[in-house]
Amino acid sequence: MNILTVAFECVPLAKSGGLADVVAALSIEWKKQGHNPIIILPKFYFIDADNLGFKPTNHTLVVPMGHWNEYATLLHGKLPGTDVDVYLLEHNEYYGRDGLYGMDGKDFLDNPRRFLFLSRAIFEAAKTLNFKPDIIHSHDFHTAYSQAFLKCYYRNVPFFSKTAGVFTIHNLAYQGRFAPESTMLYSGFGMQEFYQGSWHEYHGGTNYMKIGIMFADKITTVSPTYSNEIRSEYFGEGLHNALNYRAGDLIGILNGVDYSIWNPATDKTISINYDKNNLDNKQKLKSKFLKDNGIVGRDNIPLIAMVSRMTEQKGFDLLIRILEDYLWNNKFTFAIIGSGDIHYQNYFNYIKNKYPNISIVYIGYNEALAHSLYGASDFLLIPSRFEPCGLTQMYAMKYGTLPIVRATGGLADTVREFSSFDNSGNGFVFWNYNTDDFSFAINRALSVYYSDSINKARINAMNTDFSSKKSAEKYIECFHWALEKNVN
Ligand code: ADP
Ligand code: GLC
Repeated sequence: MNILTVAFECVPLAKSGGLADVVAALSIEWKKQGHNPIIILPKFYFIDADNLGFKPTNHTLVVPMGHWNEYATLLHGKLPGTDVDVYLLEHNEYYGRDGLYGMDGKDFLDNPRRFLFLSRAIFEAAKTLNFKPDIIHSHDFHTAYSQAFLKCYYRNVPFFSKTAGVFTIHNLAYQGRFAPESTMLYSGFGMQEFYQGSWHEYHGGTNYMKIGIMFADKITTVSPTYSNEIRSEYFGEGLHNALNYRAGDLIGILNGVDYSIWNPATDKTISINYDKNNLDNKQKLKSKFLKDNGIVGRDNIPLIAMVSRMTEQKGFDLLIRILEDYLWNNKFTFAIIGSGDIHYQNYFNYIKNKYPNISIVYIGYNEALAHSLYGASDFLLIPSRFEPCGLTQMYAMKYGTLPIVRATGGLADTVREFSSFDNSGNGFVFWNYNTDDFSFAINRALSVYYSDSINKARINAMNTDFSSKKSAEKYIECFHWALEKNVN
């Protein structure tokens, strides 16, 4: 199958969250399975294309933007360390900047255009490269308009007559709601298409996510539970009606993990490797990690960590209400790596200052430190208010680090409560979004830590298999459905 993936993120080239991991993992797996994937993403300023072996192609793309054309060039290379073809869309005015979506906490004002340009340019790129896609797979609201372009502008172009569109929702909370004028102008649809009740209109503005939902042949979300949740008003972020309208084409496919990257036995970014037959080394890694971070005499006290964007979604308001109780009573060592909302960052800096001997706080993004934390910790906290899938719990499990999660979205699909009675389960789960239930889950985890069952729980977690192979296969099945639907 020829699969054209279009996205704003893809590891290791550009990443702000799990979207980037998933985009890469899928194409890598499809390639292994004998398909023919290509990925098109913007050539951001920070992508060191030369050093990564990208070469200019001779192609200049002429991309319709409203009533006129704009131009871009294409660089070609491989996704580093793989044989997956990647094309970087070079347009310095749009993408020659240091941020993906914004800088210094402020979104770029021309984001509506930046998103539309990529969504439109992929069609011109496909034609120029003579890559006839069976599927155009676009991810999240940034590239959602490609689904509308496929149906409205390219369905009658013979080159694309058999192409189906699949749209994947990674996070419904981010929708691309803008004033309509610029979107309607640059997308070429014009303000005449913008009226109450039209697919372009949402509460008086645009909503790129809604466009993806309405125009795609199939819509996927990143876990089965989330695909059900978002049809309710509570989780639907205002789009539950659109999602219910498309419910017959809405499928939940659990994200997968690229275990060639996320494996404690082979991971080169952690200083001591281990596997489930050698958990002593995990303990050694913990001791070394604590020592390296100036924490002494706490090798045998639980280390509880978080690796997370600091946003409301991730359940920080619950954690903030209970964390100090635990630290004051010296119940565990706390470590966090993340960045995001300033008031959360300030709070964790305060924790670091008040409890310097029992906490590790790193505000910022650091891939290597994240790997070390998955390896060295005993538990990972993910008390999310909602979680479309969540990758950190899956990474943690592979590293024998037990997740403590709220049962929502992909967390509900991947984590089972550990029971000391029959030694089943791979983590700790609470249902209601309140501090009592969250604390009780932490307390259960702490008691297992001090019991004989702890290694059994760790091994269960390490045995859980969320390989991207499975999820890539499910997408192929979904692509077949999309193609069948598209037969005239
Ligand atoms: P989301 O996409 O909502 O942020 P996921 O759990 O799907 O949540 O994915 C988060 C990804 O980002 C994981 O790969 C995680 O390791 C990584 N990550 C999050 N925060 C940081 C950070 N501060 N430094 C390094 N990696 C991080
Ligand atoms: C989003 C979601 C997260 C999911 C990720 C990758 O960022 O918040 O739950 O794992 O996308 O699909």
